[in-house]
Amino acid sequence: MIQKVEITIDGKTVELPVLEATEGTNVVDVRGLIAEGIYTFDPGFLSTASCESRITYIDGDKGILMYRGYPIEELAENSSHMEVCYLLLCGELPDQAQLSEFVQDIKSRMPVDDQFKHIFDAFSESAHPMSMLCAAVGGLASLYHDGLDIFNAQHRRESALQLIAKIPTLAAMTYRKTIGAKFIDPDPELEYAENFLNMCFGEPGVSSNVSATLASAMDKIFILHADHEQNASTSTVRLAGSTEADPYAAIAAGVAALWGPSHGGANEAVLKMLAEIGDESRVQEFIDRAKDKDDPFKLMGFGHRVYKNFDPRATVMQASCHAVLEEQGIEDEPLLKIAKQLETIAREQDYFIDRKLYPNIDFYSGITLKAMGIPTNMFTVIFAMGRMPGWVAHWDEMLGSPFKIGRPRQLYLGPSKRDYVDINDR
Ligand code: CMC
Repeated sequence: MIQKVEITIDGKTVELPVLEATEGTNVVDVRGLIAEGIYTFDPGFLSTASCESRITYIDGDKGILMYRGYPIEELAENSSHMEVCYLLLCGELPDQAQLSEFVQDIKSRMPVDDQFKHIFDAFSESAHPMSMLCAAVGGLASLYHDGLDIFNAQHRRESALQLIAKIPTLAAMTYRKTIGAKFIDPDPELEYAENFLNMCFGEPGVSSNVSATLASAMDKIFILHADHEQNASTSTVRLAGSTEADPYAAIAAGVAALWGPSHGGANEAVLKMLAEIGDESRVQEFIDRAKDKDDPFKLMGFGHRVYKNFDPRATVMQASCHAVLEEQGIEDEPLLKIAKQLETIAREQDYFIDRKLYPNIDFYSGITLKAMGIPTNMFTVIFAMGRMPGWVAHWDEMLGSPFKIGRPRQLYLGPSKRDYVDINDR
């Protein structure tokens, strides 16, 4: 096993220790380089471990994803989102009493202050739900900022509970706002996923009639999205949190980072792409565009920065997707036919095989959510709900141990010093 690495620059040799991981790749500790006046260059952090973490492990080549050591397939099969939230936050699976207490803690924090609901008045019905979610999550800081000590573990736990509890309520409000409907309050009798679906699609004052299959599929979507180690939004939460920012503001930064089509926005982009393709006869045309270096078009829902073999979440999601399609009786929907054809062609053609581009979780979650009747612009909001326990667990982990403000350096390629030129002389 490699214990240390030596690098020689300008005739000077620097010895760098190698830190050992419990699973996966060991890392070269480059922290000592700055004292030698040397920086490393790694745009996109492809070769950089930005922190130590004990929460989630991914082996992209083998298609492994584990939360606190438990494989995602086992959690998706046997667990519930509430149990997974507890696991991510506390490090261990709860016993029955711990789980019941946790569920009660979440349920009691789900309602949103009446005054706070007016934050949605500022938005038009055509506003994207993610823009409302960014504002609403950040806005929670206005309710809980005073007296909050982020270096106190109990205070951090309270923030984590508030965020996990309030995200479905706020998410459902963004949807109700877009359809101009009255908000529906959370029902303490309902489980987390059912509660969310009822707050979206129920009738105020009428008992929930959400189907068990849909509630279970939604719970599975939450479990599969709950954490994914140092992805863009989680790294954003850590970076914002490293300034000792308010937790609700740090998480709002994560929500914003998730929005992009290369990250959480991909499930929405999948459906837009399927609609743009429009007909099975045009699938090859879009495949050709995806392969064309001069065309910026990418096949949405394919490829992953880390998974270069298969995405284990996609395998679980694919099965859940078929259960929903069967229950909804829409297996022959035109967009789904296009999706199936894309999946087959992409799996067979050299371009995709050579680059290890497989359907990722967003390919199947987009189709599943569409089949559940969820509007496309809500897809990333649902991803944000699922990812909340991961974000808060990473924020808590960082603040619970010594950390530094995140402050990368750069390779400067701009002009060297030059003199200011008066505007009349330019
Ligand atoms: N369609 C066509 N070509 C692709 C695609 C795609 N979806 N993804 C990657 N490639 C090509 C890329 O052009 C490059 O080709 P070449 O080697 O000839 O230059 C090669 O594959 C390697 O791609 P890359 O851009 O270096 O890969 P990356 O690790 O930087 O990007 C990605 C990963 C997910 C951003 C990218 O695959 C992508 O944009 N996929 C579509 C969007 C998507 O589905 N995103 C959701 C990711 S899963 C959700 C999450 O975890 O956040």
